[in-house]
Amino acid sequence: MRAEATTQAPADTGADTIAIGLFDGEPIAHDVDGGVLQALVDSGEAAPGLRKLAVTHAGGKRYVLAGLGKREAFDAERARVAAGAVAGRARELGTRKLCWELPHHVGDAEAAGFVEGTLLAAYAYRAYKSKPDEDGGIEQLAMSAHHDVSPAVRRAAIAAQAANAARDLQHAPANEMTPTRLAERAHELASESEGLTVETMGRAEIEAAGMGAFAGVARGTDEEPQLITLRSSPEDATGPILGLVGKAVTFDSGGISLKPGTKMSEMKFDMSGGAAVLEATGAIVRLGLPVRLVTVIGATENMPSGHALKPGDIVRAKTGTTIEIINTDAEGRLVLADCLAHAVELGAERIVDFATLTGAIVTTFGDTHAGLFGSDDAWCDAVTEAGRRAGELVWRLPLHPEYAKAIEGRYADIVNAVETRKAGSIVAAEFLRRFTGDVPWAHVDIAGTAWDTGKPYAAKGGTGFGVRMIVELAAAAPWTSR
Ligand code: BES
Ligand code: MN
Ligand code: ZN
Repeated sequence: MRAEATTQAPADTGADTIAIGLFDGEPIAHDVDGGVLQALVDSGEAAPGLRKLAVTHAGGKRYVLAGLGKREAFDAERARVAAGAVAGRARELGTRKLCWELPHHVGDAEAAGFVEGTLLAAYAYRAYKSKPDEDGGIEQLAMSAHHDVSPAVRRAAIAAQAANAARDLQHAPANEMTPTRLAERAHELASESEGLTVETMGRAEIEAAGMGAFAGVARGTDEEPQLITLRSSPEDATGPILGLVGKAVTFDSGGISLKPGTKMSEMKFDMSGGAAVLEATGAIVRLGLPVRLVTVIGATENMPSGHALKPGDIVRAKTGTTIEIINTDAEGRLVLADCLAHAVELGAERIVDFATLTGAIVTTFGDTHAGLFGSDDAWCDAVTEAGRRAGELVWRLPLHPEYAKAIEGRYADIVNAVETRKAGSIVAAEFLRRFTGDVPWAHVDIAGTAWDTGKPYAAKGGTGFGVRMIVELAAAAPWTSR
């Protein structure tokens, strides 16, 4: 869907459907046909509660009145929710061009929220459906406002389109979305975007680089693994180099420590972190944000085979640290260990990684917050704030030497998993911490938020979680530290 800002009145935009927000206790600002809309409110048919909708026709247009709740409580997230509700109804009604009338005295962040909510809610993955969608789809969105909201609309549209692109990568089945296919997408983004370069390393190069942890996971699969590195250095960039690291296990069977069959198909989503950092990188470059970037994505399958890692095997990561494999299903941290070290080596001065790392984080936060872990308070705060602005919530959990004790090894320096189920997400984060040098680093465990979150504007399937947060984070550069 295309999205644009306009200062034209909604009825002049050529839209077939016009969405008008309704605040609790406030009259309709611009009515039509001598008060049709206000009459709908007065009759009680249109209610101001958030997500409430009423539809009517006037002057050859369809009007959707959308409840926004109380003005004092209104924010970007409520704008996303209301816009998501409107987009769902508009889709059913066969809308092709939708126009939102931006309510008076609403800021840029809320204007952006309407755009994001519309684009995210209108998304559908139909690549493998033989029959076309009966409802078609909304092709165009116009944000009508008295003043120029085009910068906010443009940024929101690019970020939401990137999130939807990440959702396409998430949804594509693992027999299509192989590490090689993900690398192709990285090349595609680099060829589209001036100033973005990409390098990919296959199995032989990963092994030759001494990345024994990553290579160990990849040993079990016939699919060629890919270490994908993207870089961008805009001339006007001043602040620290941002390192974005993503786990892209394109299918996680568990390996020799095989997962149970129930819901194993969901493990095609185990590349969600990689998809998020990849598409966010594209969006940041497209927006021309003045920030230097190093993006590192570790892509492989985790499969059982005669070549696969076995419990008890010991691998050596690029940093020289030796790791005893206790559980081959704790593969994400092995892949990330070498990816994080690679990002440090390439000069990243702030790192944030995104990974569907632990089932334990789903137990902790459900699908409401992602888990945040980090070594630097100011950097963690920057990530938290970016997430709050994006409506992608994170909550920080502690790191502590007491947790780090759990991964001390008996036969090797460290172990990749512990037999107890205690503090699983924190122990995983302590493992990652070993590979981040002294670079301010944050780890976002998105296992609970990457798909099926039931959010009003991205309810089922992949959510693209992380993409918009990363764009917000990059837009907030340069950051302070500690
Ligand atoms: N990809 C999984 C984590 C996961 C589980 C994500 C469920 C989303 C939903 C990860 O590779 C994994 O298997 N982690 C193990 C670690 C354990 C063996 C220490 C886990 O969480 O059970
Ligand atoms: Mn696993
Ligand atoms: Zn995994």
